[in-house]
Amino acid sequence: MESIWSKTCEIQKRLSLDSDIEVDAAVIGGGMAGILTAYQLECAGVRTAVLEAGRIGGGQTKNTTAKITSQHGIFCHDFIQKKGRDAAGQYVRANQAAVEEYKRIIQKEGIDCDLEEKDSYVYSQDEKKLKEEAEAAAELGVEASFEPCAKIPVPCAGAVKFARQAQFHPLKFICALSENLTIYEDTAVKEVEEHTVKTVCGSVQADKIVFATHFPFINFPGMYFTRMHQERSYVLALENAGMINGMYIGDGKDALSFRQFDRYLLFGGEGHRTGEKKEGEKYEGGSYERLRAAARELYPKSRETACWSAQDCVTADKVPFIGRYASDRPDWFVATGFQKWGMTSSMVSAMIIRDMICGSENPWAEAFSPSRFSAEEIPQIMKDSGKAVKGLTKRFFHIPDESAARLAPGHGAVVETEYGKAGVYKTEDQKIYKVDIVCPHLGCELAWNPDEKTWDCPCHGSRFDYKGNLLEGPAQEGIHYE
Ligand code: FES
Repeated sequence: MESIWSKTCEIQKRLSLDSDIEVDAAVIGGGMAGILTAYQLECAGVRTAVLEAGRIGGGQTKNTTAKITSQHGIFCHDFIQKKGRDAAGQYVRANQAAVEEYKRIIQKEGIDCDLEEKDSYVYSQDEKKLKEEAEAAAELGVEASFEPCAKIPVPCAGAVKFARQAQFHPLKFICALSENLTIYEDTAVKEVEEHTVKTVCGSVQADKIVFATHFPFINFPGMYFTRMHQERSYVLALENAGMINGMYIGDGKDALSFRQFDRYLLFGGEGHRTGEKKEGEKYEGGSYERLRAAARELYPKSRETACWSAQDCVTADKVPFIGRYASDRPDWFVATGFQKWGMTSSMVSAMIIRDMICGSENPWAEAFSPSRFSAEEIPQIMKDSGKAVKGLTKRFFHIPDESAARLAPGHGAVVETEYGKAGVYKTEDQKIYKVDIVCPHLGCELAWNPDEKTWDCPCHGSRFDYKGNLLEGPAQEGIHYE
């Protein structure tokens, strides 16, 4: 499954770290947040090195829909009710500043990355809710309005418009922006102690350390695994589906999203919690198939050119954690919990963390502080702990070991072996791969994901390919069967 961005942009390979080095700041993770943070720090005169376990832009950045917008669903009205006007204003202004900062950097650096200014819309069947949201957003200073008619082929009572947002090609952008940065690829971090980052190929001494790794992999301090879960969603690139002007997303769980890239319509939806089937799902391999069925219905003449999926970290109050990693680690910083809004959240992180490291005041930092207390976290932690227990004890599609030979090609299952449970997958050419299905992060039982042919963790969202190689953290190692 290769995204339209990966198909249309190749980023030059960087060398791995090959000695011990010293820098002012080490950024762990070479996705959009890591690269932007390094760029902002270098511009402020802070000598920075990026340490990336694989290739830069090779994680969630290549799987985004690349909408640069401060419109994060229908949220302003709720945000004001729950957290007050101050916090809501900080959140919205930070994200609106992020939109403008992208435009500024792209112009300043002369980056050719298909940047287009577009209006952003959230559509819904609930007119009252839309009107309340438009009013709340306008009160917070956004150029927002209620539009009675949304130009998309699904029923709705209208949409809330945020004017003059943007869309771009994320890999072309990252490719150009990273040109003059110090980056080490294939340099997985194994351990972090105070000011030392130990990698598989050397160590880095740094005054400040930034964790920009999608999901923070150090469990203690911070305990981010108790404060976030992960969700997956799916995208199709469709040719011959007409042209759409603007970026659209629906309100609610089953909402669809639409945006244009060149001659392709990027058509997204089918979100669900990682490691779980969607509620009511009756058959395996359902997410892509359901999205394809919707595409056939709405765009019968379209052709699919690419399909891919993305994984998002979600906090209980839906606000990212950006700032100090933990109170007893004043020189560690974290950027995570971006939900579906990775582009603006990455830029907000880069600006806040740059200011914190440089000792400058940042007007929005408080709203994103990881040390904030959120009453919504308590039921969320209880719920997530329940998931963890469920994950540890889950029994589904278990078959005896000898039955693995009878698995249909292209299918995976959990088998009972004489030493306990194992996961097996049979390739189309009948080769069987066996993996350990205990998640190396904190021990939950992994679930087979037939859409992606991966082993996914229902607790905190780690993922592994059918051979057992690690695809996404917080786990730090693979699940190879001993
Ligand atoms: Fe935490 Fe698997 S990701 S137990």
